[in-house]
Parts: sequence; C-alpha cells; structure tokens
Amino acid sequence: KIKKIPKEDGLDHSLSMLREGYMFIPNRCQSFQSNIFETRLLGKKAICMTGNEAAEVFYDTDKFARKDAAPNRLIQTLFGKNGVQGLDGEKHKHRKEMFMSQMSPYELNKLKVIAEKQWQNALDKWGNMKKVILFDEVKEILCKSACQWVGISVQDEEMTNLTKDLAAMFESPAKIGPTHWRGRKARNQVETNMSELISNIRDGKLKISENTLLHQFTWHKDLNGELLNTETVAVEVINILRPIVAISIYINFLAVALHHYPHERDKLVKNDEDYYWMFVQEVRRFYPFFPMVAALVKNDFIWNGYLFKKGTLTLLDLYGTNHDPKIWDQPDEFNPNRFAQWEENRFNFIPQGGGDYLLGHRCAGEWVTIEIMKISLNFLVNHMEYDIQDQDLSYSMVNIPSIPHSKIILSNVQSK
Ligand code: HEM
Repeated sequence: KIKKIPKEDGLDHSLSMLREGYMFIPNRCQSFQSNIFETRLLGKKAICMTGNEAAEVFYDTDKFARKDAAPNRLIQTLFGKNGVQGLDGEKHKHRKEMFMSQMSPYELNKLKVIAEKQWQNALDKWGNMKKVILFDEVKEILCKSACQWVGISVQDEEMTNLTKDLAAMFESPAKIGPTHWRGRKARNQVETNMSELISNIRDGKLKISENTLLHQFTWHKDLNGELLNTETVAVEVINILRPIVAISIYINFLAVALHHYPHERDKLVKNDEDYYWMFVQEVRRFYPFFPMVAALVKNDFIWNGYLFKKGTLTLLDLYGTNHDPKIWDQPDEFNPNRFAQWEENRFNFIPQGGGDYLLGHRCAGEWVTIEIMKISLNFLVNHMEYDIQDQDLSYSMVNIPSIPHSKIILSNVQSK
C-alpha cells in the first residue's frame, strides 16, 4: 500500500529556503516527525529527505540521476557547464576516474608538502602584520598550493585576483544581487583564461611537465577516445582549484573550535595523530558547510511505501544527517572523541556527500580536505601563537556558505 509523503502547503517555498538556510530541511523533518517530506521549490514539486537510510537510497544510481538536476544559478557559479557533477552512468565513472587517479597517496603527499611550505611562508609574513584576517590569508595559502599542485604557474600579482575569483564561485551561489553576479563574472573570467591556457598546451605553445594534473586533464580522452573540449577541461581544473580554496571555510571552523573549546587545544598538544584526525572529522560533522545535494528520480520506484515519480527533484539533507540524533549521540555537542568508537558506513557521515567515489558523486576531494585540515590544525596548535581579541565569531545558520562574521582576526601572531 502506498503511503502519502507528508506535504507542506503553499505554492512555493524557495523563499523559506533562503530564509532558513541549513535548517530548511531539518526544521520540517522535525515538525512532520518524518525523515521525508514534500514541498515546492522553484515552482516545482520537490522531495526532501534526511538520515542514513535516506542517503542510502539517494545514492542508489538505479534510482536517481544528476543530469539537469542542478539549478542554473549553481551551474553558473559553483559548478560550470558539462562538469562531472551533472554526468551519469559510464560517462560519469570515466570522468570521475580522471579525478580519482590524482588522489593517490603519492599525490596527496605532494600536496601536503606544498601546503606546509605555503603555511610556513605565510606565518613568516604574519609576524610583521598588526592584524591577520585568517579567512582571507588562508584562501591565498590554499590558492597558491592548489595552483602549484595542479601545475599552473601564476604571477604573484595575478594570484590575489585568482584567489578572489575562485572564492566568489563558492561564496555566491546562494546569494542574490551583486554578490551573485560577481560569482558569475568570476567564473566566466577564470574559465576563459583556463581554456586559453589549455589551448596553448595542446598547440605546443606552452610546455608543462607530464607529471601534473593539468597535463592529465588536458590530454584526458572520453569514452569515444576523443579529447574533451577546452571549456570542459577548464571547468574540471576549476573543480579542483575552487574547492581547495574552499577548505579555508573549514580551517576557519578549526580556529573557531580551538577558541570555543580551549581544553581541546591542550588535548591536541598532548595527543597523537589519531586525535588530530578525530578533531578534523568532528569539525566536518559539527559546523555547517554544504547544506544539501540534489538529484532527479530516474524511474518510478517505491521506498518505505512512498512513491517517487520519475523526474521529481529530490534533495538530500547533508547538514541534518550529520546532526541526526538517530545516528549521533548528543549531536549538538562538539566532541571529537565520538569518532573513537565510530561505526562508519558510506551513508551516516556525509559532509562531502555519501556513497561511492567512482560509481556515485561522493566528493572527489575528501582526502585532500582531511589532509589539508590536519596540516592547518598542526600549524594553529603547534607552530604559532596568536590572540583572538574581542570580535564577532558567531556564524549564521542561514547564509550559505556560513563564515564566522569577523572572518577571524588574529593579532600578535608569532611563530613558536
Ligand atoms: C563533490 C563537498 C572539497 C572536488 C562534492 C559534493 C559535496 C562536496 C557535498 C557533492 C556530493 C554529491 O553530489 O553527492 C565538499 C566540501 C569540501 C570539498 C564541503 C571542503 C572544502 C573538495 C576538494 C576537491 C573537491 C578539496 C578537489 C580537490 C569535488 C568534485 C566533486 C565534489 C570533483 C564532484 C564529484 C562528482 O560529481 O562525482 N563535494 N567538497 N571537493 N567535490 Fe567536494
């Protein structure tokens, strides 16, 4: 027997989504006492789901597809056209292999060494600065690291602009007005420059080392044995650069956590690498970042008695799943130790999506993110001293992505 999905009345709730941000799905799941509900977004029927079981069905590629699922405002800022995010089936797997082949322990270690050097350079510079705005500075550390890892050489003067442009791509998707348009402009600009660079490599005007990601992506062949067009390569290279810069958001939250839970700092000083890993996991679970992901129902199916009709937009709640009391004991408490006895599966801890890397859309950069966060945490705890004077460290549960309001101003920074 088919059950009715709990449904909220009204013609459209897109505005409520903007108004409630990260809590849009959790608030409604709470009031319906249900892990699923139906609403209307952008003039269309949409199903929203939360939790382990919901993630499991959402990442079943027989049931959901990604082609045409993302709204245009996201494509124009965050994703770009024809990138891996909107592919399905064999095409997706083949493209995703191109990404995952760059995530070997050897490559990750290369990035780690690069990022440590960039952190050290920045720290040397900060000693002479009255104030350091951590968010802005870390974006630049990460942009430099990302370019070096990918194999793109960028002049110092251009680096500041590139950092700002890449950041605008992830800061603008959920904004309205000028901030949003700034993101679109940034994407057009960087895509154009990157396409030109790729043409120059293909034409032999620019020589680059074969051992670089840029080389691998430039010469990657699709399932028909053809090169991708230069615009698509540009989109995929940006799919590496942009999110590496976005790790700055998590690094901000590392600093916020150290500040709000000072006893944790003492534990980190005394503890081994395992505790660094647990702390990083807890930051990725606890703080808001990517609120939800979207897919379309591939063919009609029934799940838990509910009918999913072909073509229906379906959203999986990432933030809410990471705070689901059915999965997490005291979810609203910051407690790295919970990861000591944590029973991992591919659907219960999903800050960067769930399921499988190759067969599904789980974030290609999860290991990169964890590595960079661990290095950064080590710098914050063991290599520097700083003060966090009176400032607004609160962060919004509405604005996406959420960034502590002061952007974290450090003073009296010194190496130790
Ligand atoms: C996909 C989050 C860092 C590359 C995703 C998805 C999320 C996510 C939620 C979508 C999952 C889905 O659609 O089911 C994050 C967060 C990061 C981060 C919060 C922290 C900064 C990175 C990094 C890289 C990266 C560092 C690259 C080095 C990608 C790619 C995809 C993706 C290529 C598309 C995968 C696909 O469609 O198959 N990420 N990510 N991300 N991420 Fe990340």
